Amino acid sequence: MVQPRRSPARPVIGSLAVIVAVVGVGAAAFAYTAGWFSPQRLTPNRVVNAFTPPGGEPPLGHRRNHAKGICFTGVFESNGAGAALSQARVFTRGQYPALGRFNLGTPNPNAPDATVRVRGMGLRIATPDGQEWRSAMIDPPFFPVSTPQAFYEMLVASTSKDPEAMKAFAARHPEFAVFGAWAKSAPWTASYAEERYNSINSFTFVDGSGAERVVRWSLLPAAQAVPITPEELAKRGPDFLEQEITQRVRGGPQRWTMVVTVANPGDPTADPSKAWPGDRRSVEVGTLVVQQIEAERDGPCRDINFDPTVLPSGMQTSDDPFPAARSSAYEKSYDRRTAEARDYPRSAPQAKP
Ligand code: HEM
Repeated sequence: MVQPRRSPARPVIGSLAVIVAVVGVGAAAFAYTAGWFSPQRLTPNRVVNAFTPPGGEPPLGHRRNHAKGICFTGVFESNGAGAALSQARVFTRGQYPALGRFNLGTPNPNAPDATVRVRGMGLRIATPDGQEWRSAMIDPPFFPVSTPQAFYEMLVASTSKDPEAMKAFAARHPEFAVFGAWAKSAPWTASYAEERYNSINSFTFVDGSGAERVVRWSLLPAAQAVPITPEELAKRGPDFLEQEITQRVRGGPQRWTMVVTVANPGDPTADPSKAWPGDRRSVEVGTLVVQQIEAERDGPCRDINFDPTVLPSGMQTSDDPFPAARSSAYEKSYDRRTAEARDYPRSAPQAKP
């Protein structure tokens, strides 16, 4: 049977139109996600770019913040008490491998230690069920700002050439002055081992019955904190912190008690610039034991992203908007630094780029 001939022109044009429309919608969605239509919207790219002053060079191959640090391995000794708050396996009494990184809150990998006020710890605890609890904590008791947007504005103001920019920022964000007062008055120590590390952000723990509680956690050092002035610290050399912790751990493992604090109804769970009152229920759930200092350059931390939203079942993010914002910025920083691996100053000749 002879088929009637159909004109091919229409369907071809139709298909092209569909392809153009699909590609166009995809490109528009990409541009929207990248924030090209909305210069005010916070995107991971903008946030991560803001760590580098305009016209400055980012620290190629390094973390875009907390760039200076030293890696460690050890164990988390769980005492079983955390099971009252969360069904996460990590709270079943036992020992679980831990990997972490002491670090300084600066985008400059070469900053002299005595010049950086905020010290931190990245931590990953793994359990035999294949789950992980990742966390990145700092030593202040609260954060300088209330929202991710304000954090971005703080970065922009702090790298601005305008001498009034920080003053104007502080006037818009009164919580910043509270942090400033802490930074001025809190004692410095000469060791990562003497610091308390705080989750700052709030998370939700789910217990075996499904009950939810909003919590924050802290690592309290077993080592006695010995106050010292920044002037004294400056005399110890630019990298004294990693040298000191290496020696100290060689002399014996260093310990921190992990304490989980439960919010009362009405506590400011979504605002990390507000500490909770000191009388809140708190549970000692175990001990972090740092057993060995690992190489920073060629060691096991470089290729880890201590993303605070990587949580085992039994832990979730809460109404605190920071962990999601942090997760997307850490991922961007991780993507960049791993793509720049050739620029990272590995010291072992056989190491991968
Ligand atoms: C929106 C707010 C924040 C942004 C945009 C931000 C950004 C970043 C970035 C880009 C990194 C490097 C990540 C990597 O390359 O692996 C980083 C690391 C880190 N951040 Fe944040 N951060 C924020 C809030 C916080 C808060 C609230 C804390 C404290 C609880 C914190 C503690 C840390 C620590 C300890 C590290 C180093 C972790 C490591 O050793 O890998 N950050 N941050």
